[in-house]
Amino acid sequence: MHWSSQLLLVGLAATSYAGGVGASSAIPDYFQTSFGPYAGPTKAGEAPFLAQATLLAPEYHSYKPNTPVVTDVPIFGGPKDAEIFKHMGNISPYLPNPSGFGIDEYPLPSGTNITQMHMVHRHGSRYPTSDASVATVSDRITELRGNGTNFTGDLSFLNDWTYQLGEEELTALGRQQLFDSGVLHWFNYGRLYDPSRPLISRTTTQVRMLQSAENFLNGFFGPDWTRNVTLEVITEHPGFNNSLASDKECTNHNNGKSSAGDDASTQWQEIYLEKATRRFRQSMTGNQNWTTSDTYNLQTLCPYETVALGFSHFCSLFTWDEWLGFEYANDLSYYGGNGFASPTGRAVGVGYVEELIARLQQHYPYPDENSIAINKTLDDNATTFPLNQTLYLDFSHDTNIFSILTALGLKQFAEFLPISGPPPNRQLIVSHIVPFAGRFNIEVIKAPRPVLAKRPHGSQASAYDLNGTETTYVHMLMNQRTIPLGQSIAECGQRDDGWCELQAFINVQKENIIKANFDESCFGNYSTPKYGSVSTGTV
Ligand SMILES: *[C@@H]1O[C@H](CO)[C@@H](O)[C@H](O)[C@H]1NC(C)=O
Ligand SMILES: *[C@@H]1O[C@H](CO)[C@@H](O)[C@H](O)[C@H]1NC(C)=O
Ligand SMILES: *[C@@H]1O[C@H](CO)[C@@H](O)[C@H](O)[C@H]1NC(C)=O
Ligand SMILES: *[C@@H]1O[C@H](CO)[C@@H](O)[C@H](O)[C@H]1NC(C)=O
Ligand SMILES: *[C@@H]1O[C@H](CO)[C@@H](O)[C@H](O)[C@H]1NC(C)=O
Ligand SMILES: *[C@@H]1O[C@H](CO)[C@@H](O)[C@H](O)[C@H]1NC(C)=O
Ligand SMILES: *[C@@H]1O[C@H](CO)[C@@H](O)[C@H](O)[C@H]1NC(C)=O
Ligand SMILES: *[C@@H]1O[C@H](CO)[C@@H](O)[C@H](O)[C@H]1NC(C)=O
Ligand SMILES: *[C@@H]1O[C@H](CO)[C@@H](O)[C@H](O)[C@H]1NC(C)=O
Ligand SMILES: *[C@@H]1O[C@H](CO)[C@@H](O)[C@H](O)[C@H]1NC(C)=O
Ligand SMILES: *[C@@H]1O[C@H](CO)[C@@H](O)[C@H](O)[C@H]1NC(C)=O
Repeated sequence: MHWSSQLLLVGLAATSYAGGVGASSAIPDYFQTSFGPYAGPTKAGEAPFLAQATLLAPEYHSYKPNTPVVTDVPIFGGPKDAEIFKHMGNISPYLPNPSGFGIDEYPLPSGTNITQMHMVHRHGSRYPTSDASVATVSDRITELRGNGTNFTGDLSFLNDWTYQLGEEELTALGRQQLFDSGVLHWFNYGRLYDPSRPLISRTTTQVRMLQSAENFLNGFFGPDWTRNVTLEVITEHPGFNNSLASDKECTNHNNGKSSAGDDASTQWQEIYLEKATRRFRQSMTGNQNWTTSDTYNLQTLCPYETVALGFSHFCSLFTWDEWLGFEYANDLSYYGGNGFASPTGRAVGVGYVEELIARLQQHYPYPDENSIAINKTLDDNATTFPLNQTLYLDFSHDTNIFSILTALGLKQFAEFLPISGPPPNRQLIVSHIVPFAGRFNIEVIKAPRPVLAKRPHGSQASAYDLNGTETTYVHMLMNQRTIPLGQSIAECGQRDDGWCELQAFINVQKENIIKANFDESCFGNYSTPKYGSVSTGTV
């Protein structure tokens, strides 16, 4: 057992945790970075062996070096450069949002400074969670083979395929994504760190959450990062309050009351996978009783095998349209489970909003009695909730991050999503929002004068309103692209750059805490709403 050397830990004697078991009692639970009682279940997967794998279908001749995984698999019916790995919802490997959120990026006018950056980062690519239905494929295929089913044609590899995935923890690709992101954030924000003022960074007790934070911090600060930052590890488990894993404390999030999104997704799967299901039935002998949900599980294996083993035979079994359908299945699930169509959509994310406002105003959070979505013990103490940092580096889960966006009132993701298929130009595309290693950044920007709302490209005119005085803004980015705050929050105004004046933003977010209706949403005794009957992210 080892405790990482948190030598800079404020308020604790450095001698008491030079490493070693005897030191453990001196370190409070929230600064212990070894895997503890709330690390959750994990299971290692098989080691990959790409160099020896039979990767290519016979008709696929071109060779491309792997990078490190193989994503350029041939897809039927797609454009020439079809990139299915950009359409896999929350199990897409990290990609910067390729199309933006409806607004251009603008440079800072000279004389304007970024003074703070608040980040929430998802963990990287992992094995399936232990309760994931994809993990049942192994038993299903074994059962079919045991009953004499032979797979033929495209499915013939299933005659001797084995399930080799682990559970819950990061894959090597997941570690790389977080390390790369740490490097990226160092380039973007390195100067906001003052080496004489060590930081607190927060994650949760789950194995992949610890692994992600550590790999990020290694990328940002280098391998001696424990000299620069103390990792705070907040308990992720039912019964504990944790703004970075609030689903665990929000009873109604887990008892079926916010399951409408998953139901909608299942109905859509019946539609877009109908043909594939018929196709697969023709590629196996015997009375297999193959279902749409079997087909969906095979499709899900493509991204999971790829991030774990480097390559998957399952990817090429599906057409381009079926991959676009897969993406939409994820969109429905998040919209109805964590977004504006979920009765707990705002509540699960509101704890972070309480903390964000506290940090922006530099005073501890004071939520009302019926809105306590944080751990007050931790958040009322400078050791565990400092208010004087310029960099706030937090780590969380996809569902929690999606709910934070809902709690922040980003109504650009509130458009109704029909079960029958995607509306044109929809904004809610999960792979653009919470892919593996997805993240948002909220920059605080101090300008000597107001920055004009209209900022025509190529204009030589000053970007400032020369009549005004010093003004502070927030600029929010999701996966490296600007979120146009004015599109969702009228008080931010229709600015070309998508920024929002700081005080206007804070005022709106204070109202959003009330709108989350935390106690009633999480603990109220209401009947499960039908898909589509909730549109405000609360009951
Ligand atoms: C396989 O055979 C067993 C025993 O006959 C039976 O209970 C089961 O339903 C069969 N499974 C499938 C998928 O046909
Ligand atoms: C499956 O293939 C094996 C070996 O080729 C053969 O012995 C068996 O009869 C086949 N079973 C079915 C149900 O076709
Ligand atoms: C981390 O802290 C050490 C010790 O104070 C310092 O020497 C080093 O420069 C810091 N790293 C960065 C990236 O600032
Ligand atoms: C709050 O955090 C403290 C310190 O980790 C912990 O002892 C306590 O159980 C937590 N309370 C809740 C309700 O999560
Ligand atoms: C196929 O599975 C469905 C759902 O489990 C079941 O209702 C049906 O009876 C099964 N059909 C056969 C032929 O086994
Ligand atoms: C945890 O959350 C519950 C529900 O909001 C609240 O009643 C309790 O005071 C919180 N505990 C702490 C330590 O913040
Ligand atoms: C804040 O946390 C530190 C470290 O755990 C502890 O020593 C101190 O007593 C706490 N302060 C208050 C006011 O609770
Ligand atoms: C915040 O204030 C505390 C107490 O004065 C100090 O120990 C710590 O270094 C400060 N942190 C930063 C990042 O300025
Ligand atoms: C931005 O930083 C520069 C250099 O530290 C400083 O001279 C300038 O006053 C700052 N601008 C604002 C608006 O604070
Ligand atoms: C600044 O003030 C002048 C004089 O009052 C006015 O003509 C001008 O429109 C103002 N500029 C802006 C950007 O408001
Ligand atoms: C919840 O409401 C239902 C319907 O009004 C009622 O039958 C049930 O007893 C209530 N449950 C609790 C725990 O209050």
